[in-house]
Amino acid sequence: MIPKSEILKTLAGYDKKKLAIATLCSHSALQIFTGAKQEGFKTIGIVTKKKKPMYDAFPLAKPDEYIVVDDYHSSADALNSLAERNVIFVPHGSLIEYVGKDIGNLRVPIFGNRRVLFWEADRHKMFQWMKKAGLRMPSSTGPDKIKGPHIVKFPGAKGGRGYLIVSSPKEFREKTTHLIREGVVAKKDVEGALIQEYLTGVRFYPHYFYSPLEKEGLRVGEGRLEMLSVDRRIETNIEEIYRSHAAGLKTEPSFAVVGNMPVILRESLLVDIMDMGKRVVEASIDLFGGIPGPFCIETICDDEFKFSAFEISARIVAGTNLYPKFSPYTPYIFKEEMSTGRRIAREIRLAVAQNKLDKVIY
Ligand SMILES: Nc1ncnc2c1ncn2[C@@H]1O[C@H](COP(=O)(O)OP(=O)(O)O)[C@@H](O)[C@H]1O
Ligand SMILES: [Mg+2]
Repeated sequence: MIPKSEILKTLAGYDKKKLAIATLCSHSALQIFTGAKQEGFKTIGIVTKKKKPMYDAFPLAKPDEYIVVDDYHSSADALNSLAERNVIFVPHGSLIEYVGKDIGNLRVPIFGNRRVLFWEADRHKMFQWMKKAGLRMPSSTGPDKIKGPHIVKFPGAKGGRGYLIVSSPKEFREKTTHLIREGVVAKKDVEGALIQEYLTGVRFYPHYFYSPLEKEGLRVGEGRLEMLSVDRRIETNIEEIYRSHAAGLKTEPSFAVVGNMPVILRESLLVDIMDMGKRVVEASIDLFGGIPGPFCIETICDDEFKFSAFEISARIVAGTNLYPKFSPYTPYIFKEEMSTGRRIAREIRLAVAQNKLDKVIY
């Protein structure tokens, strides 16, 4: 991974009055560009020919300038060229999917702490982080000890695609053998699968923002933690599987995200939600130097109102796209309209004013 000192050198050469914000045109780019414009930044979008008309269809949100590439998988050169252009790059889920491990070596300064992207990508590391934060988590087990419903997550199988539900060692063997035969997963994916207790309850995906620069509010580390919004993911086909079951079909559930729904929490539950966020930030400070910027904890709330967490997304999540102007919570923190996208740009602006860009960028 490129050392932080290199990134700071690049930043030192930047004209701070002419900073631009860039991202890949995908995931939450419309929101990121809109927020950056609201805060007065120039915006640059890396885009494919195919996707460009979609972004042009939203004139107020499209970037001021495009860099057209053939394919996001091979966009590292385009991304690196941004380091000569006063750019701060905002990462999102699609960047991780398309650019993967190469993110570590990108020369362009990235908003947030790029170390976290590796803690997010490796399930074992993520669980270590979650455990250190003291989050309640579903138990996990080996293939021969499965008793009762478990969800099987294959390595790298992102977006919930290809996950299985099994209740016994026999069912695990049968279903995974079938998947291997069909060529859906490899044998080594089955060997490396996570077999996790299937949780009953209601899912909530709270969106947080950690600012090392702001002081007024819920203090964490040297800064404050903000709770910006909450969503619930719409996952096919689990979401409406009762319709198939009602028709007598024995459809196997799948968990691929296709959209998001807005959610508001019972106010008393915010105590635990804020506490989980606080502990995730504190653990991140101890483990890898902190997590400035947006993140999300993926949770399930049971009927005793206890939250279990099964994942952390350590960057802007697409569920924040529900709130391009404000959420039910942001008016209690900000007098002006605030989205997560705008919040990112605001943090960059604050950091420039306080001469502390090094705290929010790597
Ligand atoms: N332990 C669990 N119990 C019940 N449902 C789960 C559990 N873990 C995950 N899910 C469901 O599967 C989806 C995808 O799981 P997740 O661990 O977030 O994987 P991904 O890396 O694909 O995002 C979740 O959004 C949730 O709906
Ligand atoms: Mg997830």
